[in-house]
This record gives sequence, C-alpha cells and structure tokens, in this order.
Amino acid sequence: MQLFGIPIYRKKIKISKKTIDKIKKEKYELFPRQKNGYYTKSNVFILDQYKELKKQIEEEKNKFIYEDLKVQTDVDFKMINSWFIKHKPKNHSGIHQHVNSFISGILYLDVGPETGALTFYKDNMWRNVFPNTFDVGFTSYNETNSASWTFIPENGEVFLFPSFLQHAVSVNKTDKDRYSCAFNFYPQGLLMHEDLSQLCLNVDM
Ligand SMILES: [Fe+2]
Repeated sequence: MQLFGIPIYRKKIKISKKTIDKIKKEKYELFPRQKNGYYTKSNVFILDQYKELKKQIEEEKNKFIYEDLKVQTDVDFKMINSWFIKHKPKNHSGIHQHVNSFISGILYLDVGPETGALTFYKDNMWRNVFPNTFDVGFTSYNETNSASWTFIPENGEVFLFPSFLQHAVSVNKTDKDRYSCAFNFYPQGLLMHEDLSQLCLNVDM
C-alpha cells in the first residue's frame, strides 16, 4: 500500500473535431516571459465560451474531488481560469507550478507522441522514502522511488493534479503545432473543522 501519496487523475474524454477546429482559430500570443509557447492571453476564462467542453472537464474534476479525494460535497471546486496553449515546433514549457490555485488540470486537444511529453517532478523537500539527495541505485523505477514521472499524452486526455506539483513539457520535435488547454480550480464554500475552525471561501471574480 501507499500512504500520503500525491494523487494524479488521468482520464480520456471525447471532443468533437468541430470544437478542436474552433479552438485552433483562437488568437494566440507569445508567453511574455518564457517566450517558448503561445496562449490565449486575451481571455483567461476561455472555457466559458466552450460550455460543453467545460461541462465535461467539470465532470472529471468532480470524480477526482468527490469520489477519489472524498471531499465533502458542500465544498465546490470552482474553475477560476482557463486558457488554450499552442506549442509550435521547437516550443516547450519549462518547470513550473500553478500559482493561486489548488487543483490544476490539462486537457490535450491535438498532440502526438513527439509533440511534447508531460513530466511531473518530486519536490526536493518531499521525502516518501528516499530524498532526492540520496541515490541508493534502483533495479527499476516505480511511483515510489522515482524523482520524476513522464507521460506521453494522447488526444482527449485530462490530467488533474495538485497545483503545487512541478511539471514541464518537453520540446515539440515535430513540424506540427501542439494544442492543449490548462485550467485551475479553487475550493469555494464553508470549510469546517470540528466546529471550531471555520472558513467561508468565495472565489467569485
Ligand atoms: Fe502547467
């Protein structure tokens, strides 16, 4: 068994070609600091214009939050922002984490095996058994002894993960553009702890 692990949710959903085509026609601008990819900068609530897609993502988020993580149903995890990302050939995303967010997610819209892998990194302070500064050598790697873990994403796959978890996207080695969607969630509602410590969170924009 595992104790105190970091949960990653991974599931495939169906997205119509019409929706993908519409997403590709959105206006994309260069990430201002990293300059290694493009995003829908002018609208960081863009899934509000894609109601069906947002609903599908919300359904997966609810499975993660209420079925896997067993969060009490009075607390909502509200989508606080969303944007589409285009990685042109040779673009990538360096290691980063999502700020002012609790649960983050990525949906893959048009990707391939060589357009960029998703890698999650174990934090240097996270000591499940072996700290990153201690290498005993392993005969093979698994979820417990690895310092990083890489996924080759497929079209329609949704990943949900704690926002503090560092991740990166490798270089797009193809001559095609790679499309994905990123989004963040924050808890909203009355958080209760033994009648004493209560906190009412409202994240309305
Ligand atoms: Fe990210």
